[in-house]
Amino acid sequence: PRHWAVVPAAGAGRRFGGPVPKQYLELCGRCVIEHSLATLLEHPAIDGCVLALSAEDEWWAETVYASHPAVQRVAGGTERSDSVANALEALSEYADEHDWVLVHDAARPCLTRFDLDRLIAALGDGSAGALLAVQVHDTVKVADAASGDRVLRTVPREQLWRAYTPQAFPLGTLRRALARARDQGSAITDDASAIEQLGLRPLLVSGRSDNLKITRPEDLPLAQFFLEQQQE
Ligand code: C5P
Repeated sequence: PRHWAVVPAAGAGRRFGGPVPKQYLELCGRCVIEHSLATLLEHPAIDGCVLALSAEDEWWAETVYASHPAVQRVAGGTERSDSVANALEALSEYADEHDWVLVHDAARPCLTRFDLDRLIAALGDGSAGALLAVQVHDTVKVADAASGDRVLRTVPREQLWRAYTPQAFPLGTLRRALARARDQGSAITDDASAIEQLGLRPLLVSGRSDNLKITRPEDLPLAQFFLEQQQE
C-alpha cells in the first residue's frame, strides 16, 4: 500500500486570535504550514498530500508549496473532521482503500523525520492504525461539571497519553469511521477517536514531545526554539 498525507488547514484559529490564521504565521523564516508540509513532502514513503483549506483562505497562494505538483487542495468543512472527510473523498478518486492516510495538523510545524519514520514503521498489514503520542507526566485532575474548577478526583496517569499527529489509518477504514461519527453526531477532536468508535484499537507510537500544536500565542516562541534546536 501507498502512503498519503492529509493536512487539515481550514481552521480560523479562534483561540489564537489575530487577523492571520495561526498556520500562516511566520516562524524561522517560513510560515507554520510550510514547516509542517516540508517534513511530510520530503519523506520518500509519502506519495502525495491533500490539503484542506478554508474558502476565505488568502494566504496559501503565497507559500512555497502553492503550486507543488504533489499537493492537492480541497475545501475545508465546519469542523476539523469535516475537513479531513473532504480530503479523503478527493483521495478516494485515485488511492486504494487499503492505502495508508497520515493525517497531520497544519498547526504542528515541529514534526521531525524521526517521528514520521517511527510512525510509518509501526504500520502493519490489517492494523487498526497508529498515532504519535506522548505519555502524560503531570498529575491529572478532573473538575466537577457544575463548578468547572472544583476537583472531583485525580486520574491515575500511568495509562494516559497525549494524542499528537500524524495519525495513520487505512483510507477505507478512516472514511467509514468519520462517516459513522458524523451520523451519530459525536464530536471528535482527532481521527483516532472515530476509529475507536468502530471498536478498533490504534497503536500508540511514542513520539517526540516537541511536536506541539500551535494553539495559543505563547506556543509560537516555543515552536521557534524547538525548530532552532532541531536544525543544529
Ligand atoms: O483547532 P485545532 O487547533 O484543533 O485545529 C487542528 C487543525 O485542524 C488545524 O491545522 C486547523 O487548521 C484544522 N482545521 C480544519 N478545519 C476546521 C477546523 C480546524 O482543517 N474546520
